[in-house]
Amino acid sequence: LKIVTILGARPQFIKAAAVSSLFKENFDEILVHTGQHYDSNMSDVFFQELEIPKPKYQLNIGSGSHGAMTGAMLIAIEKVLIEEKPDFVLVYGDTNSTLAGALAASKMLIPVIHVEAGLRSFNKTMPEEQNRILTDHVSELLFAPTQTAIQNLQNEGIKKGLHLVGDVMYDGILHFTEIAKKKSTIIQDLNLLEKQFILCTIHRAENTNDMNRLQSIFNGLNAVNEKIVLPLHPRTLKYVQEYGISIGEHILIIEPIGYLDMVRLESAAKKIVTDSGGVQKEAFFLKIPCITLRDETEWVETVQDGWNILVGANEKHIQEAILTFNPTTIPTNSFGDGNSVHRMIEWIKQYQLS
Ligand code: UD1
Ligand code: UDP
Repeated sequence: LKIVTILGARPQFIKAAAVSSLFKENFDEILVHTGQHYDSNMSDVFFQELEIPKPKYQLNIGSGSHGAMTGAMLIAIEKVLIEEKPDFVLVYGDTNSTLAGALAASKMLIPVIHVEAGLRSFNKTMPEEQNRILTDHVSELLFAPTQTAIQNLQNEGIKKGLHLVGDVMYDGILHFTEIAKKKSTIIQDLNLLEKQFILCTIHRAENTNDMNRLQSIFNGLNAVNEKIVLPLHPRTLKYVQEYGISIGEHILIIEPIGYLDMVRLESAAKKIVTDSGGVQKEAFFLKIPCITLRDETEWVETVQDGWNILVGANEKHIQEAILTFNPTTIPTNSFGDGNSVHRMIEWIKQYQLS
């Protein structure tokens, strides 16, 4: 059984690290890298340290406007599918690479597997929300991480092919947390002390592309009296420079880091401040209080359980949450039991037999 898997952006490499090692024992999986992320610290580092198999196809599409990027991917992926004639095409999450892969396959009547199906922010101005909705509606097998995701899909009239499997990023973090502790030296390298720093990431378009929002976020971060470590996404770096935003001396800006270093920093952080989907979940898995720089989240369970607070780009709320947000509730088990990849494998085999 042949599966072509489309990868392109950082969170997809991390999801593939949990999935592809188990797929290898069951399927003939061919990886296609669209090239959406291409800097070595946004791409190569994950393939090297997480032992993700080498992609057979490197499409080298690179950055661009949504239409140009997605269109170029669509053309290039179609060529791969004509060549490989797979039984399935698998896509992860909600990036432009996800949508291009799903659309190319669907037009060729190749069943699409969507991993992380059913997530919704109900904010259609987000490129990710558009990508998710479109991808879900052309998918044959929809692997949902949470019960909320299943409900969202049912509410949109999708009834067939839905499976609650749990979150592959939870499988991943269970596997990699101990490895990160043994291998990563980032705490020593940056002279950090356990539980005495805040970890922050910012990259979401709604925050970077709006000068007032980005400035307000940095006003909030600049105002607190805590060490903040901020591995900065290249998109955000570009805008910080363009807007001329000044950054407090207590904020340590570093380049994007590998996953093992990231998990090590997450585990050691006192709190996490982020607008990333993946980082919100990882904070929850590791029981680190999470302050989310967004007005809504797809990962509602993290908020309902009391471990995540939405502060948007409001500088006062950011400041206050960094000082006072200290959850003590016991989080529920909303993201599965760490065996979601095994469940996916069984459902794919069953679909093929039916
Ligand atoms: C993309 C996804 C977003 C995901 C994020 C993960 C879309 C629409 N967005 O956002 O959902 O959360 O990846 O990190 O698919 N750049 C570099 N080097 C790189 C990659 C990007 O310099 O290796 C810079 C370029 O200036 C580029 C900008 O970052 O224009 C944005 O990259 P892009 O892939 O379009 O979006 P992300 O913000 O990374
Ligand atoms: N991540 C990483 N290095 C970094 C920042 C993030 O390895 O410098 C990891 C993080 O641990 C998580 C994933 O990247 O597993 C999240 O990706 P990102 O925030 O880019 O995208 P999103 O999840 O918001 O789509």
